[in-house]
Amino acid sequence: MADTHHPSTSSGRHLDPEARPDDRVDNALRPQKLTELIGQDQVKENLGILIAAARGRGEALDHVLFYGPPGLGKTTLAHVVANEMGVNIKVTSGPAIERAGDLAAILTNLRAGDVLFIDEVHRLGRAVEEVLYPAMEDFALDIVIGKGPSARSIRLKLPRFTVVGATTRLALVTAPLRARFGAVYRLDYYDLEAMKAVVTRAAKLLDVHVDKDGVEEIGRRARGTPRVALRLLRRVRDYAQVRADGIVTQKVAKEALDLLQVDPLGLDDVDRRVLKTIIEKYDGGPVGLNTIAASISEEQDTIMDVVEPYLLQLGFLDRTPQGRVATKAAYDHLGLTYTEEGQPRLL
Ligand SMILES: Nc1ncnc2c1ncn2[C@@H]1O[C@H](COP(=O)(O)OP(=O)(O)OP(=O)(O)O)[C@@H](O)[C@H]1O
Ligand SMILES: [Mg+2]
Repeated sequence: MADTHHPSTSSGRHLDPEARPDDRVDNALRPQKLTELIGQDQVKENLGILIAAARGRGEALDHVLFYGPPGLGKTTLAHVVANEMGVNIKVTSGPAIERAGDLAAILTNLRAGDVLFIDEVHRLGRAVEEVLYPAMEDFALDIVIGKGPSARSIRLKLPRFTVVGATTRLALVTAPLRARFGAVYRLDYYDLEAMKAVVTRAAKLLDVHVDKDGVEEIGRRARGTPRVALRLLRRVRDYAQVRADGIVTQKVAKEALDLLQVDPLGLDDVDRRVLKTIIEKYDGGPVGLNTIAASISEEQDTIMDVVEPYLLQLGFLDRTPQGRVATKAAYDHLGLTYTEEGQPRLL
């Protein structure tokens, strides 16, 4: 079977999948085939062609990079790619490969056609990247033997393999690394129809009884993100079991999600605190990300990776060279009065 090792990383967000029950459920719910994947039609279509062509020629797949906000399916797609190609997948991540030698050890253990999945590929160290370049381009590993003037370099041939990279921060992937991926796909937030399909599929697999309006309520509040939908579904299921008769109706879903402080657009407490900080403390902005992060004691990375992309998508936030600015739509959503100068006016 797939030879997977799951490095735990220091970021805390990508914990060892074996460690938390919620993550275990996520893994169990992961679609295995392209046809099982919901939404992301363009990615699916392009990837389908890439895979069919490589299979037709009997070649290893070109290197593929997936980028986009957390929880949209990058890791899932990496596994789907390996499944569709009928090859093994080796799982690692940028911060888990500490030394060039660690990567060399991984590379020399790959078999022809294997997928090497590198999560958080923007966090690879410099020295490690230097080893990866010739490996991706020429399927070669340059090893230096000896030290000083007598040092010489020998080149080992590697089997043809496929790097599948994933990142939430395309901008932090170095240009030479990015250039070595033959296909780069962006994952977008899912629309409501796709979210409803995600909830329906998961409810079936988890054996939770959710009616049509219950599905819609959860789908609507899951910020276009399958992972969030799965999490909300589990919490709503708990609520239905303890406070209702186990069946998730719209009313039950609403009550449960209100209690969890997930609002009708899917904003949670952190999202609202970010907006309120910009509006109430900094007169609507512009204000720098580090200032916002410090004000609400959240990590900048969390705000940048998780909070901002969704607020930008909703049109609640603008990024300007001077900093972040809350839009009128954000004021309206929070029930605050917007004025031209962007300052809530005291009546
Ligand atoms: N297209 C999809 N259809 C159905 N379920 C999906 C889809 N995409 C993702 N999921 C579900 O959502 C969960 C989260 O997806 P995944 O772990 O692949 O996200 P990710 O983009 O790798 O996130 P991160 O950036 O945090 O690593 C998966 O466990 C999977 O069950
Ligand atoms: Mg992932």
